[in-house]
Amino acid sequence: MPFYEWRRSKHESVPMAEKADFIALRLSPLRTQKAHTMQKQRVFSGIQPSGNLTVGNYLGALKNWVAIQKEYENYFCIVDLHAITVPQDPKILRQKIREVAAIYFAVGLDPEHCVIFRQSKVPEHTELAWLLNCIARFGELSRMTQFKDKTQKGGADSASAGLFDYPVLMAADVLLYNAHLVPVGDDQRQHLELMRTLARRFNHTYGETFVVPEAMIPPTGARVMGLDDPTMKMSKSSPAPAHYVAILDEPDTIRKKIRRAKTDSGSGITATDDKPAIRNLLDIYSAMSGKTISALEAEYEGKGYGDLKKDLGEVVVEGLAPIRTRALELLDDPGELDSILDSGAERAKKVASSILRDAQTKMGVD
Ligand code: TYM
Repeated sequence: MPFYEWRRSKHESVPMAEKADFIALRLSPLRTQKAHTMQKQRVFSGIQPSGNLTVGNYLGALKNWVAIQKEYENYFCIVDLHAITVPQDPKILRQKIREVAAIYFAVGLDPEHCVIFRQSKVPEHTELAWLLNCIARFGELSRMTQFKDKTQKGGADSASAGLFDYPVLMAADVLLYNAHLVPVGDDQRQHLELMRTLARRFNHTYGETFVVPEAMIPPTGARVMGLDDPTMKMSKSSPAPAHYVAILDEPDTIRKKIRRAKTDSGSGITATDDKPAIRNLLDIYSAMSGKTISALEAEYEGKGYGDLKKDLGEVVVEGLAPIRTRALELLDDPGELDSILDSGAERAKKVASSILRDAQTKMGVD
């Protein structure tokens, strides 16, 4: 079946958050520009093609992108230039780029509503990043907690300048499309704040140019923690497979990982501060199933951790298995994936080039 037809026929069966469930956490009131009043608002988001995409990426980002796609004009990017801010094996990176593309389509993103492309194929991203570098301040980049976390081990001396500059490239990604909304997980709040600061500073200095974007953060699943350590955010770059459930994990691997997930002392199934591991499992359960945390607490009253883990394993398998199957099918035809990404880049460029030109003109480098 041709790719596009498959997407349409399978669309309804793809797990989606109900719109009502998805309460956007807005950082400030929306600011719209005249030119956009008659059009759908724009959404931009991206994922780095590094490591194995996890259930955290699914719940914090992908699932919500699918849920809102029809209401917006969407740009979903594979941010390969962000991935190379830490060392990557070029062969594996090429493979991971296709893997992320396959997952984007397999979760249910529809090319009819979404422009899906690789960041490195639209050089306007790095061009705007340079302009923004010239208004971003060294001090504000030094305060970014993700940079501090990522350089904790090796120290700032061994970190790449690209890693330091990561948030400016991220700001360029979004501002380049005048996107209004940025659906992301909770860990991106500080980056979003910086992006907003840069947009406001540019507009103030050079005249109205950029939309000031807002974060859209889901009520559950916005910060999925590690299965082996509920004090650490689940990360796709973790070297320990027991730390995460990958979107492409086999069903039995998912069941096993959840069965072996760390639990807390005691026995009650409650999402309380003294039970960070159980709270994390309930959060994943809630985000995957659409049931509220309090409904789950009531459902599991008097039951054991083993019961919760067994059912959660099935809920996660049910949500991820169809995505895995479809992603693997798509990966069988890398040529088609590449050509869809190339046409996405062409569409993205059309919007990006005119906004870049506007910024260049305002700065006097046209
Ligand atoms: P990345 O690849 O680290 O994460 C991609 C998305 O997944 C979310 N996420 C999580 N959500 C819940 N629980 C987790 N454990 C978890 N881990 C990751 C992230 O919040 C993110 O939404 N810097 C971005 C990539 C980026 C971007 C952009 C995003 C580059 N340019 C422009 C939005 C707009 C990032 O964190 O990627």
